[in-house]
Amino acid sequence: MRILVATSEAYPLVKTGGLADVSGALPAALRRQKVDARLLIPGYPQVLAKVKNLTFLTKLDFIPQVGSVNVLAGEMPDSGVPVYVVDHAGLYQRDGGPYQDTFGKDWIDNPLRFGVLSHVAAVLSSGFSPLDWLPDIVHCNDWQTGLTPAILHFFRTTRAKTVLGIHNLAYQGNYGPEWVGKLGLPPQSYQTDGLEYYDQMSFLKAGVYYSDAIITVSPTYAEEIQTEAYGCGMQGLLKSRSQRLHGILNGIDTDEWNPSIDPHLICNYDASRLAEKSANKEALQNRLGLDVDANAPLLSVVSRLASQKGLDLLLNIATTLIHEGAQIALLGSGDAWLEHGYTQLSKAYPGRMSATIGYNEGLSHQIMASSDIFLMPSRFEPCGLNQMYGLAYGTPPVVRRTGGLADSVQDTDEGALKAGKATGFVFENANEQEFMAAIRRAIALFHDRKSWAQLQHNGMKQDFSWTPSAKKYLDIYRGL
Ligand code: ADP
Ligand code: GLC
Repeated sequence: MRILVATSEAYPLVKTGGLADVSGALPAALRRQKVDARLLIPGYPQVLAKVKNLTFLTKLDFIPQVGSVNVLAGEMPDSGVPVYVVDHAGLYQRDGGPYQDTFGKDWIDNPLRFGVLSHVAAVLSSGFSPLDWLPDIVHCNDWQTGLTPAILHFFRTTRAKTVLGIHNLAYQGNYGPEWVGKLGLPPQSYQTDGLEYYDQMSFLKAGVYYSDAIITVSPTYAEEIQTEAYGCGMQGLLKSRSQRLHGILNGIDTDEWNPSIDPHLICNYDASRLAEKSANKEALQNRLGLDVDANAPLLSVVSRLASQKGLDLLLNIATTLIHEGAQIALLGSGDAWLEHGYTQLSKAYPGRMSATIGYNEGLSHQIMASSDIFLMPSRFEPCGLNQMYGLAYGTPPVVRRTGGLADSVQDTDEGALKAGKATGFVFENANEQEFMAAIRRAIALFHDRKSWAQLQHNGMKQDFSWTPSAKKYLDIYRGL
């Protein structure tokens, strides 16, 4: 079977969040299941620099405004997964991120940039492709490739079956209706039964409406998005397509996220050498200017600072936690008021609170390994990877019961701990009282060394590898 995974980011080429982790790992996991999975990604500067053995394949012309687009071929740096690169200097070769400029403002021509990406994915998955490799399935991801199923629907030629992967329903790619014509879509696609969404054309709705299957990244999120509270306005359509809507929990890349071989750590460890985790804690406390204190529970956050992640809740209770003896290490970037709030807090409590504003892959690994308790109070969380990294690193997470957090963390009580099932601390509602109570439960258990070690072991022995999830993807692909 041949699968083309079309994506706007993939680790280790370019990453803004979990989508990159998944796009990097899933094709490799599929290939281990003997499936010919390949990746398609825009030629941002980082991509052109990092893809191995890049060669020119073909030229495509289909959107008059952009002229021709080159398709290059190469391989992913570590996994060797074959990758097709959409090369267009004007659209993709810029300083800044994949979606935003260096000031954090969305690129004004994003509908064109990702419209072109969606088109290339469609052409390469159809009878119009000049390549000798045609996929059976094109697996699109989020709004950036959401138009592909719509474009393919209107092609009068053979086409691959289409899958839309939803990693986050809150980002929809909604733009003015003029984009329907500008992106070469037929006028009849612009209607309620199509890609019209509250008087705009929606990339994501196009994918939800026209794809042959929809797969979101956890079973609980697949249920939640069919309700008003989590459906971001698309709950009705998603419910009407529930027969074709599936939830598969993401795996984690166990080569990248494994404390026994992680090159970012001062000291590697595993479940049988948990004492060595404390050497990492000491090094991190030193590095971040925190008081070196093995007994202070070190709480951590590695996150985008967006309302999704619920980190405003932590801002309001951090002072109390610090007064109760905890330390906090935060790494993140995003909403300015949260960046500012945490920076102020770290100035007010040097030695107890550290806030690193920015994106830092190495530090994220060190924090995961060195801290004691990982915090993830998300308002919604399609899957979430960090809580699983926390479990794998013996850093039990405190999470809200939603989406993939609900599917990957087992709450702790005496019975669950004894039965070897408890892995973290789960609270129900996104408010400070409940979050605080869950953190206090975690800290109390942290001081009970024997029970804490049991909890760490329970988390570390979970299987979060991609293999079981890749098999579930395969079942769905085969069913199409
Ligand atoms: P989301 O994709 O919603 O941001 P996930 O938990 O699925 O959430 O994935 C986030 C990924 O991005 C993880 O690999 C996490 O380690 C990483 N990450 C988030 N913020 C930072 C940061 N400031 N520095 C380094 N890595 C980060
Ligand atoms: C999104 C979600 C996150 C998920 C990731 C990868 O960014 O916010 O929950 O883990 O995609 O699927």
